[in-house]
Formats: sequence, C-alpha cells, structure tokens
Amino acid sequence: MKSNRRKFLRNLSLGTGALSISLPSLGTLRQAHEQENRELPNALPDYGKQHFNMCGYAAPKLEKVRIGFIGLGMRGPGAVERMSFIEGVEIKALCDKYPDRVTKAQEILVKAGLPKAKEYSGNEGWKALCESNEIDLVYICTPWSLHTPMSVYAMKNSKHAATEVSAAKTIDECWQLVETSEKTKKHCMMLENCCYDFFELLTLNMVRQGMFGEVVHAEGAYLHDLSKDYLFNKNAYADMWRLKENIGHNGNLYPTHGLGPVAQCMNINRGDKFDHLTSMSTNDFSLKNIAKEMAAQDDFFKPYADKSYRGNMNTTLIKTNKGKTIMVQHDVSTPRPYSRIHLVSGTKAVAQKWPGPERIAFGHTWIKKEELDELYKKYSPPIVTHIGEIAKEVGGHGGMDFIMDWRLIDCLRNGLPLDQDVYDAAAWSSIMPLSEKSVAAKSKSVDVPDFTRGTWKTNKPHDMTLNGGATTTVRKISKQGS
Ligand SMILES: NC(=O)c1ccc[n+]([C@@H]2O[C@H](COP(=O)([O-])OP(=O)(O)OC[C@H]3O[C@@H](n4cnc5c(N)ncnc54)[C@H](O)[C@@H]3O)[C@@H](O)[C@H]2O)c1
Repeated sequence: MKSNRRKFLRNLSLGTGALSISLPSLGTLRQAHEQENRELPNALPDYGKQHFNMCGYAAPKLEKVRIGFIGLGMRGPGAVERMSFIEGVEIKALCDKYPDRVTKAQEILVKAGLPKAKEYSGNEGWKALCESNEIDLVYICTPWSLHTPMSVYAMKNSKHAATEVSAAKTIDECWQLVETSEKTKKHCMMLENCCYDFFELLTLNMVRQGMFGEVVHAEGAYLHDLSKDYLFNKNAYADMWRLKENIGHNGNLYPTHGLGPVAQCMNINRGDKFDHLTSMSTNDFSLKNIAKEMAAQDDFFKPYADKSYRGNMNTTLIKTNKGKTIMVQHDVSTPRPYSRIHLVSGTKAVAQKWPGPERIAFGHTWIKKEELDELYKKYSPPIVTHIGEIAKEVGGHGGMDFIMDWRLIDCLRNGLPLDQDVYDAAAWSSIMPLSEKSVAAKSKSVDVPDFTRGTWKTNKPHDMTLNGGATTTVRKISKQGS
C-alpha cells in the first residue's frame, strides 16, 4: 500500500469518528482533493459535511449598502463610479496600496455630489477597512493573489465580500472561501460580469424556457491579446503583477469570463456539476521573445528576459456529472480579435456570440437578424427590460458591469439570494489550478472537487424573475468628465 494512501485511509477513519464533534480542516480537504488524482478510483473523496448551504441563501435585508472598495487601479475606479449612481449605496471607504490612487478616486465621489469616503492605504490598509463597523460590503478589485485573503478577512469581519475574477488561485483558497462563507453566513460573490451581458442573458433565459432542449455542449474563452499594451506595459498592472502571473503558471489563468455564463446555462452546482477535466497548453511562442525585445530596449525588463512563460494557448475540456462537455480556452498573448466564444449547443438549438455577429440556429442555418431581434424582444429576461437601457447609458463593458452591480445591491437591499454564490466562485475559479495540474501531468484527467458537498443535486437554479426586488433606483446619470 502506498504510504500516502495509508495516511489517507488513516485520516479517513479518524475523520469519520470525529465528524460529529469537529468539521474537516483544510488539511483534510486538501487530502481529499489529492485522492482525486485517481490513485484510488473506487473510493469517494471525503470533503466532510456542508456547514450551511449558501446556495439560495438570503441574508438579512440592508436598507443602505455601505461599501468599502479595495484596489483602485484600472478596474476599481469604474466600479466606484457605477456604484455612485445607485440609490441605497453609501461609499464609505476607499483603499489602495498607493495613497495617490485613493485621493484620485475621491474625485469620483465629489463629481457625483457624494460625501468623501474614509481613506486607507499601504500594504495592509485593507485589513483596517475590513474591520471597520461602517461597512456592509467589501468590493475587491486587486491582483488575483489578494482576492481570497481579502474576501476571507472581510467575511470573518462580518462583511459580505464581492471579488473580481478569479476569486481564488488554488484549491485550498477555493475551500477557504466556501468554509468561511458557510461558517459566517456572509455572501461571497465573484463579480463575473460576463454573466450579465445581453446575449448571454438572452441565451440563459431561452435555455430556461426550454428553447435549446437539453444543453449538451458549451464553449467559452478569454482570447484577448494583452501582451504589449498591458502585460509588458510599466504603466498598466500595478507592480507588473499580471505579467508575473504568466511566469511559473501554465494552464488557463483566467477561466471565468468564458465559463460563468455557460456554467449557468448548464445549471452547474444546481442540478449538475463539473466532474473532471483535461487540459493542454501549447508552448510559449511569443512572451519570452517580447520579454527579450523589451529588455534590449529598457533595463527595467531585464529580470523578465530569462524567465519561462506559460504556453500561449490553453484548451481545457470539462465533463459534467450529467455527461455534458465544456471547452474553455485562454490566450492573452497572440494577436487575434477579442473573443469569449460563448457557444451553447443543445438538442434543439445552438447559439454563438463570437466571432460576431451573435447568432442562433434551430437547424442547419443561422436565423436572420430580424428573427434574432424578435427573440431579444420575447426572451430578454426581466433584468434586461428593467435596467438594460440605463445600464447601456452608464456603461462598463457595454452595460453588463452596471447590470451586475445594480443586481448585487438590489439583492442585498431586498434580502434576496445572490445570482452567483460562493460555490460558483469556487468551482469556476478552480479551473485555473486544476488546468495547471493537468497540463503539468501531460493532460491527465483531474477531478473537480464538489464544493457544494452533495447539495448540487437539490440546489435550485438562480431566480431570473426579479420577484421580491427591483426596488433599487438609479440616480441621474452624469458621466465623469462629461
Ligand atoms: N471583470 C472584468 O471585466 C475585469 C476587467 C479588468 C480587470 N478585472 C480584474 O480586476 C482586478 C484588478 O485588475 P486591474 O486591471 O484594475 O489591475 P491594476 O493593477 O490596475 O489594479 C490593482 C490595484 O490593486 C492595488 N493593490 C495591490 N496590492 C494592494 C494591497 N495590498 N492593498 C490595496 N490595494 C492593493 C494596486 O495598487 C492597484 O491599484 C483583477 O483581478 C482583474 O483580473 C476584471
């Protein structure tokens, strides 16, 4: 018997006796995940029991939602501005490692005629923000490695956490989010804005209405050339964090934009779940070359010239428990038009958004533009008819960012469950470390942990009706700089 198997079985038998008095530690969860390497094909992994089911959980209503923002780089200030338009929101705190970014973000509040927020800065200023008793929701727009520590600390300090994508970088972090959200009964929402884009919402609603029959296969991606303008730009990501992420990690580094909307179409964590995946990456054919070119022109880039970079294109194939498949791709380093693919293929219809134009087919040919317009009229869900036009005016990726923020606030103010819960955050984010693991093992199949610990079988899909909500209004829009 292999020694790790012996150790696992010992822990399992100890764990069974101890379950009634103590819940599994993260160490046990990690071991359970290790077991999923298929060394023990007949044994079920033991993740312990769910502490509390956060799927469908409605937190007590908050009349006002007092927000503290952490991370005011390229993404954060836009979120501050969007929230400044929403009635019932109070922006109480602004935080960034760099104090000048905080000062600059105050201008957004001044322009909106709102009171200035309390300022926090430095490497650890965010902890004091999370500890403040003037805040209900911590909204996180920092580099990936800080998402889980900040979300966990926020929840432990009795705040709801909303974090930019991806919510976690490792399987341990995924479990930390799940465990903390369940134990504190605080929401942990990953801000997957692509779930709120107009075509994605149309296809999701059509799937819900049975127009696609049984969804069989889906595809999503993040294909966006960030290399020269962002990754190797000294004035883009703070302290070059995103370029550093591309060194030493080889897999799908950014899976959730493509995955979130199609996972919702497949009721992942709510009737089905990700079972296992296999992942393959190309070699790197561009990043090291760019690093060398940049280093030849500017000494700043010299430390990056001798590094190994992740393969340009990663393709991951996920199989669900119900036998469906999802293909997810990631490439941010070759020149090609932006694409999240967004393909949903069912027994009665198929939809695809990228490359454009958006289209739907019920047979061999795509329907005409006028027919698609009719589908938009008939099947756009209530959230779009209610807030879609205002969202387009506010902007943020064509309006989807505002729809997401408005819905988050409206749910919190009306005590409604959030559309995306901690299990979605964990499962969608887990594709990053799991794809890396599969790539490192010559595309070996890797199991996806069941973050719901069994409740995926009975959890209900999120409510698309707006029932019990839609009471949150929007202030008169006067865009910054206009
Ligand atoms: N959903 C989307 O469409 C979308 C779009 C862009 C970025 N993002 C995500 O948003 C996040 C931020 O990206 P970005 O482009 O703004 O990056 P950025 O580097 O421009 O901003 C990150 C900010 O976090 C700050 N920060 C770093 N360490 C900190 C600390 N210890 N305490 C407080 N602040 C700290 C940095 O100073 C910087 O201002 C990333 O997770 C990114 O993936 C999402």
